[in-house]
Amino acid sequence: MKILLVGSGGREHALAWKIAQSRRVTALYCAPGNAGIEQLARCVPIDAEDLAGLKALARAERIDLTVVGPEAPLALGIADEFRRAKLRIFGPTRAAAQVESSKSFAKDLMLRHRIPTAAARSFDALKPCLGYLDRQPLPVVVKADGLAQGKGVVVANTLEDARRAATEMLEKKSFGQAGERVVIEEFLEGEELTVMAFTDGKTVVPMLPAQDHKRVGDGDTGPNTGGMGAYAPAPIGTPALRTAILHKVLQPIVEALSRAGSPFHGVLYAGLMIVKGKPYVLEFNARCGDPETQVILPLLKTDLVDVMEAVVEHRLDQLQVEWDERAAVCVVLTSTGYPGAYTTGAQIAGLSDLNLTEDVLLFHAGTKRQGDQVITAGGRVLGVTGLGSTLAGAREQAYRATRAIAFQGCTCRSDIASRALQSGA
Ligand SMILES: Nc1ncnc2c1ncn2[C@@H]1O[C@H](COP(=O)(O)OP(=O)(O)O)[C@@H](O)[C@H]1O
Ligand SMILES: [Mg+2]
Repeated sequence: MKILLVGSGGREHALAWKIAQSRRVTALYCAPGNAGIEQLARCVPIDAEDLAGLKALARAERIDLTVVGPEAPLALGIADEFRRAKLRIFGPTRAAAQVESSKSFAKDLMLRHRIPTAAARSFDALKPCLGYLDRQPLPVVVKADGLAQGKGVVVANTLEDARRAATEMLEKKSFGQAGERVVIEEFLEGEELTVMAFTDGKTVVPMLPAQDHKRVGDGDTGPNTGGMGAYAPAPIGTPALRTAILHKVLQPIVEALSRAGSPFHGVLYAGLMIVKGKPYVLEFNARCGDPETQVILPLLKTDLVDVMEAVVEHRLDQLQVEWDERAAVCVVLTSTGYPGAYTTGAQIAGLSDLNLTEDVLLFHAGTKRQGDQVITAGGRVLGVTGLGSTLAGAREQAYRATRAIAFQGCTCRSDIASRALQSGA
């Protein structure tokens, strides 16, 4: 089977690593890929959003299955294009991907189907939005409706901050089209949890619960990032909570999308706030999360290509998906300055002597090959995943390996998985 993977980050390296282990794969291509993926796949310099280019590649190389990593091509309708061209693809249609690409669409669907989520209202015009904000308790959450690369959400502690955020989005168009509508949401206080699931539009197979670390600094301080680390399984995801998430969130949203005529096929990501033991949806994503994927896939025992094929062929109910008993912790190494301005082009040392055992995995995010060197090419540079029989052991493995890697301005958080460890896991 020939597979084409679309994307170029740590998530895609983890996907490539897992796909490459499949006994069924004869060739793996990646567009555009990075210096790590290059070791597993034939990388082709086609942008993840160049749908025509990707379609031509899939045809020319007779690809049997295309796997989409990032959200942008899904929101552009890559799955629709490929299906029209009779090319098999793992990922939802543009209509189904609206659960991620439009927060108001997701919110309406959740409210209509009584899926637990924060109370909210959507606005296209500034004046009524400001009027509504004046009457809300604080803190209040202001969200740009569309895709904003993790920068479109403001948790406002003062009315002034809330009004400014709404004004920036609706009037100053600081998020372009993504901010032409805003969702004003009730603030929920609790602990965040991620649960991703495979679904073929009918059957839902949840993955292990994970937690990521969005803020740049230790102790969850500083600005939000694309993710500084993650771990799984997250101990707060008890069996009872996982059952509640399946029955109250995942199955109802999948059913709602199917009934609305836009069945969802692929990986559905639920970003949840656990409030007094109960799950509330903060958002859905229409694809794997990053860095969560870098801890989840190393714990998946089943052949990922078998799972993906079962999704594409609508027979997920016939497959047994199995998980490793171990824990995984991923520490992301970033370029200094990220998520603000940062420099690239620094040589990365230590990669070749890194002792990659069964317990340590290295996933490239923003890297590039330059001659026989690997250089930094993004804010998030590498993800180091440690595995162990306990979270503490997994974390030790991950941090030990990060100490062997060096590049100018290399930064990471030192407290990944601390919260779970303090709670006694
Ligand atoms: N209703 C809410 N109550 C409290 N915090 C929230 C709420 N909505 C979002 N957040 C915080 O903002 C972050 C980003 O929001 P999210 O809806 O996941 O958007 P995105 O990932 O697209 O930026 C969440 O991870 C959470 O920390
Ligand atoms: Mg989020």
